Amino acid sequence: MQMTVAELLQSNNFKQEVLVKGWVRTFRANRFVALNDGSTIKNMQCVVDFENTPEDLLKRITTGAAVAIKGILAESQGKGQTVEIQVSEIEILGDSNPEEYPIQPKKHSFEFLRENAHLRIRTNTFSAIMRIKSALSFAVHKYFTENGFYNFHAPIITGSDAEGAGEMFRVTTLDPDKVPRDEHGKVDYNEDFFGKETNLTVSGQLEAETYAMGLGKVFTFGPTFRAENSNTTRHLAEFWMIEPEMAFYDLNATMDLAEDFIKNILKYVLDHCEEDLNFLDNRLTQEEKTKPQNERSAMSLLEKLRFVVDNNFKRVTYTEAITILRNSKPNKKKKFQFLINEWGADLQSEHERYLVEKHFKCPVILFDYPANIKAFYMRLNDDGKTVRAMDVLFPGIGEIVGGSQREERYDVLLEKIKAMDIDEKELWWYLDLRKFGTAEHSGFGLGFERLVQFATGMGNIRDVIPYPRTPQNAEF
Ligand code: 4AD
Ligand code: MG
Repeated sequence: MQMTVAELLQSNNFKQEVLVKGWVRTFRANRFVALNDGSTIKNMQCVVDFENTPEDLLKRITTGAAVAIKGILAESQGKGQTVEIQVSEIEILGDSNPEEYPIQPKKHSFEFLRENAHLRIRTNTFSAIMRIKSALSFAVHKYFTENGFYNFHAPIITGSDAEGAGEMFRVTTLDPDKVPRDEHGKVDYNEDFFGKETNLTVSGQLEAETYAMGLGKVFTFGPTFRAENSNTTRHLAEFWMIEPEMAFYDLNATMDLAEDFIKNILKYVLDHCEEDLNFLDNRLTQEEKTKPQNERSAMSLLEKLRFVVDNNFKRVTYTEAITILRNSKPNKKKKFQFLINEWGADLQSEHERYLVEKHFKCPVILFDYPANIKAFYMRLNDDGKTVRAMDVLFPGIGEIVGGSQREERYDVLLEKIKAMDIDEKELWWYLDLRKFGTAEHSGFGLGFERLVQFATGMGNIRDVIPYPRTPQNAEF
C-alpha cells in the first residue's frame, strides 16, 4: 500500500508491507535514509540492509535523489523518531549527482536559496512556509464562506487604475518596434488587441464593488500587479490580495471584520500547523540570538501570533497619530528620515512601525486619513478634509491591510474624480452604481504575502512566494 510520510507517522500498522516515495535528504552510514515527501516537515527514517544491497545501488542513494521504498513499518529503536521503515526494496526513480545538487544538508543563506528557487522547496524552512501558506489560503476561503461571503473573480486585464497611482504594467500585443500612430503622432490603441489601453490589475476592488451591490458580500483572492520601483523586504511587483467588499457596511463594521478575519485565520494556523510553526519558531529564535541584544525581538514567533489572536487592535485616528508622532523622541531628535511637521503628511513605514512597535506595542488600525493622500473612491467625512479610510498596521511588517468606506454619493464622487484628473469616461460603470440603488458599502485589501510573512516570521517577502517578481528580476 502506498502511503505518505505523514500517514505513516500516524500509522501503527506494523505488519503490512508499505510503499513510500520521496526525496533523500541524507543517507548516513550506508544504512539510514532520511526520506521526505513534503507531506510533513518530518522525515521518515528508512533502514537499508546494506549487506544485501548491491554496492552500485547504495552509491545512487544520494541527497536529492527520488526513490521508491518498500518495507515494513516498525517501532524505532533510534532517537528522534517513533517509527521507521525496514527496507526490503529500494528503487532509484531519479538520480541526483551529489557534486552538482545545490541543496546540501547544511545551512544555506536565503540569498543562495533565492537563486535556486526551483529547488528551495526541498528545504525544511521553505516547505514549512509553503504548507502554512496553503493552510492560510484555505482558512481565508473557509472564513468568508462561513460568514456569508461569495468568492468573486475580478478580471486580471483591465482598463482602469483602481488606485490611481499609475503603477501599472501595460498589456499589449502591439510590436514595440512598429507602433501604429494616429494623425497626431500618438500611439493608436484602436489597433491594439482590445482596441484600447489596458493593464494588469492593481486591485480587484472596483469590480468587486459592482458584485457586492448585487450579491451583498463578496471577496476576491487573486493576483495583483504593481510596477512600483520599491526594492524593499515588503514589496513585490506581483502579489496576491484578498479583497472583501460588503454592501451596507460602514467603516466601523469593516474594521471589526478586518480584525476578526485576521485573528481567525491566524488562529487556524496556530491550531493546524503546529509542527511547521514550531520549526520556524525555533529557526527565528536561533536567528535572533545572532543579533545584538537591543535589536532582538521581545517575543518568539508563536508568542507574537498568540498575542495578535488574543489582544484587541488599537484604533486611532490619523489626527491622533500625527500628534503622537510629532511629539515622539525620534521626531524631536530628527531620527526619522521623514520628519513629521504638520497634519497632512503621508505616513512612511518608519512612522507606522514606531506607532506599532514602540508606542502602542500591538497591532494598530489607523483611520480617517487626509483626503488628498488617499484614493479617489474613499468616502469624504463631514469635515470636508478627511476620508473614511483605514489601514491595519502590524509589528515588523507595517501596513498589512488598506481599506475604506466607499463614496456612495454620485455628485461627491464625480467631483473627486474630476479634481484628481481621472478620466470619468473610463469609470462610467463605476459611477452607474451610484445612480442605480446606491448604498453605503465598504471593503479592504489584505496583502496575502505580508500576512504569510507575519505568520512565518520571515524577514523578506521574497521568501514567502515561490517565484518573486521584483524590479530587475523575473527569473523562473
Ligand atoms: O493599500 P492598498 O493599495 O489598497 C488597495 O489596493 C485597495 N483597493 C484595497 C481595497 O480596499 N479593496 O493595498 C492593500 C494591501 C496593502 O495593505 C498591502 O498589504 C498589500 O496590499 N500590498 C502589497 N503587498 C506586497 N507588495 C506590494 N507591492 C504591495 N502593495 C500593496
Ligand atoms: Mg495602502
